[in-house]
Amino acid sequence: MTDAPTHKPLVFSGMQPTNTLHLGNYLGALKNWVRIQDTMDCIYCVVDLHAITQDAGYRHPGDLFQSTREVAAAYIASGVDPARSLLFNQSQVPEHAELAWIFNCVARLGWLDRMTQFKEKSGKHKERSSVGLYTYPLLMAADILAYKATHVPVGEDQRQHLELARDVAQKFNNDFEVPDYFPQPEPVITGAATRVMSLRDGTKKMSKSDESDFSRINLTDGADTIAQKIRKARTDAEPLPDSAEGLEGRAEAANLINIYAALADEPRDRVIGSFAGQQFSGFKNALADLAVARLTPIAAEMRRLLADPAEIDRILRRGAERARAIAAPIVADVKRVVGFVA
Ligand code: TRP
Repeated sequence: MTDAPTHKPLVFSGMQPTNTLHLGNYLGALKNWVRIQDTMDCIYCVVDLHAITQDAGYRHPGDLFQSTREVAAAYIASGVDPARSLLFNQSQVPEHAELAWIFNCVARLGWLDRMTQFKEKSGKHKERSSVGLYTYPLLMAADILAYKATHVPVGEDQRQHLELARDVAQKFNNDFEVPDYFPQPEPVITGAATRVMSLRDGTKKMSKSDESDFSRINLTDGADTIAQKIRKARTDAEPLPDSAEGLEGRAEAANLINIYAALADEPRDRVIGSFAGQQFSGFKNALADLAVARLTPIAAEMRRLLADPAEIDRILRRGAERARAIAAPIVADVKRVVGFVA
């Protein structure tokens, strides 16, 4: 740990409201966010400013309204408690964008040029990407550092962005001669077991952008759909192995076992032990029952919340006020340090 003792432990994380959430978001992120609330102060943000860095979030304002509420509802339905944790949407706290501008001037072009996610997202047509997509990691750094957050639960794909946030924090502290002003935020990388892969191809991450809806389980899927998707999930012809080594080279089998273990909150070895030597058909039935039992209450709670969008908006507004009370004095400090007359 490199946390300076002067910085109080504080968790910050966020998700983009670009589409409906799926099992990978739940097991890879939300479930852990919920658990961490018991031991740490947590800030969970629906990062709607990030959502407009790509066309999907930019073109249809009606979709953005709806997705923001849906993601907020998914947080709450999964167990994020807006009374204990801070829950809000990013665009209601202007300090994020304000600090991001300053970080745009602290970070170097060469740092952003190294970001692999930009290369993936912009693809062959870099020149047609929004400038926002390019500087997105600096907005993410601002999200975290506007609260001086010290711990950031993220998936492996965000590790590089978090390293950039650490570099920005350090360069700011050095350039403006305010040693230790910003903490060095630590990634809290959630275990390999929660990396959920596509149900159609065990080597690809479960993703909202996969063309096939059968590749993923959406948090809003009903019981029949969940069961059908699991029964149709790709597997191989062998029975289930009796040890973890037996899963090597069997990406689909490993994925289903991992999903089972994560949903059941059981160690993977125990799950392997209970299904050793069995055919997939029986295991898939057990997995379908478990997934339906765990996920349908979340979907039902999401539906209940979304039936009253005004209440969700109230929760987000209240969260934003509380968030601002923390971020505003920090960003005011930063502006003084930089030399802006107030
Ligand atoms: N970039 C993250 C993603 O796409 C979302 C995000 C934005 C985030 N700001 C953040 C995650 C701050 C953690 C902390 O997954």
